[in-house]
Amino acid sequence: MMGRPPSLPFVLLLFLPCLSRAHRSNPEDEKPSCDRCDRRLSCNCTYGGFTRVPTVTDGALTLDLSFNNISEVTDDDLIGHAHLRALSLHGNAPSAFDALWNLEELDLSNNRLTALNHTWFQKLGALQKLNLVGNPYRSLGSSLLFQGLVRLRKLAFGSDDLVELRRGHLTGVSQLEELTVHANNLQRYDAGTLAGIWPLGRVTLSLHGPFLNNTALASDLLGDVSYPETPMVLLDLHLIGNESIQPFRETSRRRVRKKTTGTFDFIVLSFLTTYNLSVSDEAIVELLKVSDGAPLTYMAVNNARLTGEGRWERAKETDHKNIDEFFIRDVVILNVWKFVSFMDLGFLLQYPRRVSVIGAKVFLLPCNSTRLLKNLQYLDLTNNLLTDMTLEQTLCNGDGTLKNLRVLNFSGNALKSLSTLSHLVAKLDKLAHLDVSRNGYNVMPTHCTWPSTLQYLNISGSKLTEVTACMPKTLQVLDLSNNDLQTFLVDLPALRELYLSGNKLQNLPNGSKFPNLQSLTIQSNTLSIFHDSELKSYQRLTNLQAGQNKILCSCEFVNLLQMSFRGQGAVALTDEEENYICDSPLPLQGEQVGQVHLSIAYCHQVLVVCVCCGVALVIMVVLVVVLWRIHAFWYVKMTWAWLKAKRSSSSRRRRQNRDGTDSEPLLCYDAFVSYSERDASWVEEYLVPELENPRDEKDETAATAAANDKPLQAFSLCLHKRDFLPGQWIVDNIMSAMERSRRTVFILSENFVSSDWCRYELDFSHFRLFDGKDDGDTAILILLEPLSKDDIPKRFCKLRKLMNSTTYLEWPQEEEKRPEFWGSLRNALRGDDEEEP
Ligand SMILES: *[C@@H]1O[C@H](CO)[C@@H](O)[C@H](O)[C@H]1NC(C)=O
Ligand SMILES: *[C@@H]1O[C@H](CO)[C@@H](O)[C@H](O)[C@H]1NC(C)=O
Ligand SMILES: *[C@@H]1O[C@H](CO)[C@@H](O)[C@H](O)[C@H]1NC(C)=O
Ligand SMILES: *[C@@H]1O[C@H](CO)[C@@H](O)[C@H](O)[C@H]1NC(C)=O
Ligand SMILES: *[C@@H]1O[C@H](CO)[C@@H](O)[C@H](O)[C@H]1NC(C)=O
Ligand SMILES: *[C@@H]1O[C@H](CO)[C@@H](O)[C@H](O)[C@H]1NC(C)=O
Ligand SMILES: *[C@@H]1O[C@H](CO)[C@@H](O)[C@H](O)[C@H]1NC(C)=O
Ligand SMILES: *[C@@H]1O[C@H](CO)[C@@H](O)[C@H](O)[C@H]1NC(C)=O
Ligand SMILES: *[C@@H]1O[C@H](CO)[C@@H](O)[C@H](O)[C@H]1NC(C)=O
Ligand SMILES: *[C@@H]1O[C@H](CO)[C@@H](O)[C@H](O)[C@H]1NC(C)=O
Repeated sequence: MMGRPPSLPFVLLLFLPCLSRAHRSNPEDEKPSCDRCDRRLSCNCTYGGFTRVPTVTDGALTLDLSFNNISEVTDDDLIGHAHLRALSLHGNAPSAFDALWNLEELDLSNNRLTALNHTWFQKLGALQKLNLVGNPYRSLGSSLLFQGLVRLRKLAFGSDDLVELRRGHLTGVSQLEELTVHANNLQRYDAGTLAGIWPLGRVTLSLHGPFLNNTALASDLLGDVSYPETPMVLLDLHLIGNESIQPFRETSRRRVRKKTTGTFDFIVLSFLTTYNLSVSDEAIVELLKVSDGAPLTYMAVNNARLTGEGRWERAKETDHKNIDEFFIRDVVILNVWKFVSFMDLGFLLQYPRRVSVIGAKVFLLPCNSTRLLKNLQYLDLTNNLLTDMTLEQTLCNGDGTLKNLRVLNFSGNALKSLSTLSHLVAKLDKLAHLDVSRNGYNVMPTHCTWPSTLQYLNISGSKLTEVTACMPKTLQVLDLSNNDLQTFLVDLPALRELYLSGNKLQNLPNGSKFPNLQSLTIQSNTLSIFHDSELKSYQRLTNLQAGQNKILCSCEFVNLLQMSFRGQGAVALTDEEENYICDSPLPLQGEQVGQVHLSIAYCHQVLVVCVCCGVALVIMVVLVVVLWRIHAFWYVKMTWAWLKAKRSSSSRRRRQNRDGTDSEPLLCYDAFVSYSERDASWVEEYLVPELENPRDEKDETAATAAANDKPLQAFSLCLHKRDFLPGQWIVDNIMSAMERSRRTVFILSENFVSSDWCRYELDFSHFRLFDGKDDGDTAILILLEPLSKDDIPKRFCKLRKLMNSTTYLEWPQEEEKRPEFWGSLRNALRGDDEEEP
């Protein structure tokens, strides 16, 4: 009993692109539901313990139901899954499929189908892929099975239980892109059963048993599907003795008889180590003899054990000129110490241009064997055990053997010295690709010598901490992913693709050093932000992948990224949008950059503040202008001055009261004269002499005085020039002068109106009215020059009022009218005094 080949797909896929028919479901059996659906409408309901198809989100496209216990799928179950494209029922046990038409792909592999009923597939006219591998049916059963499948292009069937393939079982299958037959225990095969399928694409056959003990059957089967253009993959072979090669021999002979151009163009011998299989020297030699002169170009051996010792020289005479490629992977050589050198295999090794020996524990290729590979252009020694020392042997100390080599791949070995490597390849003057990823490089020397043809270098997965001028300037593709780089500061003028994912870079490299860079991959670093200007320093960059970094979601950066997602930026971000997650600031942590919405106020703080300040400034200016226009400052200044003066005068009074002294009589002047400095000459020349020393003019005024029959009274006047206390605040002086004067004489003129102090004085007299001390006409107006009310600015409402209510005295220009003027003035000054006792 054979095990199951683990490399095969074991999924049950039901492609239901336009499932249209829907029956009403029985409400009694409640349907289970599954809510494990992702953003791409793909639902992973594996291992859910479901016994029937569960309901999922509307519009789901893919439903994976692998590893459940679903034994039946009916169209009833599929109601509500109208959008479903793929249904996977891997590892379940469905036993019946009713009317699943419109299906394009049906994968029933690895279920429990013990028999195939031809009615299942009858209506599946649209089916293109059918997989029946891994079910316990022993026979395909009916010649009607595949008859309805007119559009079938890929067919896989068989298992370890399949014992017979009879003529007619594949009726209806005429042409295929892919045929897979698992028939490890096949016992009966009617020759020609598979022969009707033509044209045939790729054929994969598992014929373990027949190759061992029924080579006739194997020959028949192999012969039916062998066409010159048909690649063949053979699984599970056990090639030990001369006998096991017989099917190839038969087929080859048959081909010659049929006069086709050759036996196999293309053989893939794939062995599975799980069977503990081995291939002997004898089998190899026989195989080489069988394929002698055949246009066999590609030999691949996977998962095999070589039991022999490499003694293949008996096939020396064979002709294998056509061999182009050897591909050997996961091959174990059991007797590695007995294994002879490849020296005798020159007949075989001189032809291939491509050799891959992958995962074969190769630790050394002796220089002499290397020299045998005369045609070699491509050498892949991935996942082996090479060290710097054995590499020197393998590449013959860098003497330029393998002069045609273009691609060299030492990925996954134990190399440590980049300078050794560069020295060894320096003379390979056609080398273009060098892959030394996943090695142990941790230091990069400052100078290296490389072939001038080197374009591709892959040093990913090492431990490099810095990059130096060692990097060849000719590089077009450089992969330094998954190292420990913190900076990247080299000039690489020819570089087109740069891979820097999985390092510790904090900034984008300076783009002006890579004028030809088109693609940059820098995922999973510690990049937090980059600016538009940094992107613009790359002249040719069109493709950037920068997800999975510690993104600082600033307004500018979020905006830049979102533009790039929408394809509006200069550089397209080609990795998944979901990879861009905000790391900071804290409130946005964990959010997808594509989903972040930042407010304008948050993003343009400076602008907002500026606008606010600007608006405030404008308002203030307007306010100031308005206030200035309505003379508000003047009023405020005045009020303030008055209040201050008031306070100091009242405190002075309190002090006096407290002292009990009344040294200063409250009223000591008859009049306070308020005048503009420019009118001082008039005051000094006329007013003061006239009022304070009237005797001087007695003679002249005798007539009037005599008429009044009274001596002329002398008035005491308070003049700011003369009577103000020096050292005191002028407003105080004005206040106290006015308070201590019985009357205030305003000498009105244009000068007066334009003098600030005069205005104060005028207004103080106004305030005195409010004080209530004065009951009326304390103010006497003298008009020095004709002054119409309209000449007085509007804000002197007090003055205008006074001029309205109080009769004012006009200073006459004519001499003869002046005595009358003085008389009126005296009367006005005397005013109330006469009423006083
Ligand atoms: C579905 O989930 C299972 C585990 O529940 C996991 O093993 C499997 O890989 C997932 N399938 C897909 C396609 O993600
Ligand atoms: C499926 O059902 C069988 C019995 O009906 C049970 O033994 C088995 O554990 C179930 N498997 C799963 C995956 O639930
Ligand atoms: C095939 O299925 C049909 C309908 O389900 C049934 O009537 C018939 O007996 C089945 N045939 C075999 C050979 O099981
Ligand atoms: C081949 O071996 C299988 C068991 O491995 C056996 O059942 C079968 O009869 C044998 N066939 C021949 C032709 O010997
Ligand atoms: C292998 O078998 C073929 C044909 O059966 C025969 O011609 C050949 O000599 C055999 N080789 C050996 C080494 O026995
Ligand atoms: C594999 O086969 C060899 C002999 O061919 C045997 O010695 C060995 O024990 C086998 N190994 C296993 C795991 O069966
Ligand atoms: C390599 O070949 C040369 C002659 O071609 C021979 O002298 C030398 O001993 C060989 N070296 C090894 C290690 O086989
Ligand atoms: C080896 O390197 C070459 C060139 O880079 C590449 O094409 C190839 O796929 C690599 N082989 C493996 C097994 O990675
Ligand atoms: C470099 O090598 C790694 C690992 O071998 C591989 O995954 C990667 O794709 C390679 N890079 C390029 C650009 O081919
Ligand atoms: C990038 O390099 C150029 C010269 O190579 C230099 O002029 C420029 O200042 C660098 N820019 C930054 C951001 O370091």
